[in-house]
Amino acid sequence: MTQQELMQRIEELKRQKGAVILAHYYTAPEVQAVADFLGDSLALSVKARDIDAPIILFAGVNFMAETAKVLSPDKKVLIPVAEAGCSLAESCDAAEFAAFKAKYPDHKVVSYVNTSVGVKALTDVCCTSSNALQVVESIPAEQPIIFAPDRNLGGYIREKTGRKNMVLWNGACDVHEKFFVEGIEALKKEHPEAKVVVHPECKAEVTALGDYVGSTAGILEYCAQSEADEFIVVTEAGILAEMEKKLPAKRFIPAPSSCGKRCNECESMKMVTLENIAACLESESPEVQLDEATRTAAEKAILNMVAIK
Ligand code: 13P
Ligand code: SF4
Repeated sequence: MTQQELMQRIEELKRQKGAVILAHYYTAPEVQAVADFLGDSLALSVKARDIDAPIILFAGVNFMAETAKVLSPDKKVLIPVAEAGCSLAESCDAAEFAAFKAKYPDHKVVSYVNTSVGVKALTDVCCTSSNALQVVESIPAEQPIIFAPDRNLGGYIREKTGRKNMVLWNGACDVHEKFFVEGIEALKKEHPEAKVVVHPECKAEVTALGDYVGSTAGILEYCAQSEADEFIVVTEAGILAEMEKKLPAKRFIPAPSSCGKRCNECESMKMVTLENIAACLESESPEVQLDEATRTAAEKAILNMVAIK
């Protein structure tokens, strides 16, 4: 089938089955084109909960589809590639995390949404890259905290809050870890007027170069509000499709990765294709299934976050 025919087939299947497609900004442009909603990881899961549709297909990595299922237990949540994992979420195994947590019995656990449902179930309150600061600040200063799984986001928050009593899990994202200072400085020389926008999963020396540091949705919002015309984008390059579509008069320059061409792309996100979306809608599988006790515990941690305003 041609790309056009596949897109038509997907539209037909969505209509027949009452299905809705949610896609993360890092998916390929043609995948974003068949989505009913595009967004950052948490906004999409909340959207999944609020949408009146029996079937949600989540075009993204597996922790995102799991989070959607945590918040929407009565809906069928499909993921086109069940093994599309997130290196950051995978850097924190639930059993190992339980053993780590046991060493700090008086600590509260804050974990980033880029975690498995098993880790969320061991968490007191979740956070996203947009609200991590707010979440940590909502916890009394004398209360020690475990922050998981991202040492970069955790380090950034520890620095911002000056909190010494924050223990970090030693995890990271393979894609964001590879952005490097020299690459960004070289682009800044070529584009001196450009603002630098950075995802906080990057290393501290890279985050320090940011005019804005935040989640994918936060970065898009900042670029829309800013008076600047040029932006050096220090996050996964898939987000450029939406930036260029939404803000055609502005220029977006992807930051390079230390490992060379295309390493600023998340392989797992790019595993989602029009072909596997069509097949997934057709067969209504793979479907996300969660153990109910784990789901309920994970939901509590997410709802604790949502309650912090
Ligand atoms: P957002 O929550 O900002 O969408 O980020 C998800 C992610 O995987 C970043 O690498
Ligand atoms: Fe996970 Fe990194 Fe891919 Fe985001 S870019 S989904 S954190 S591996």
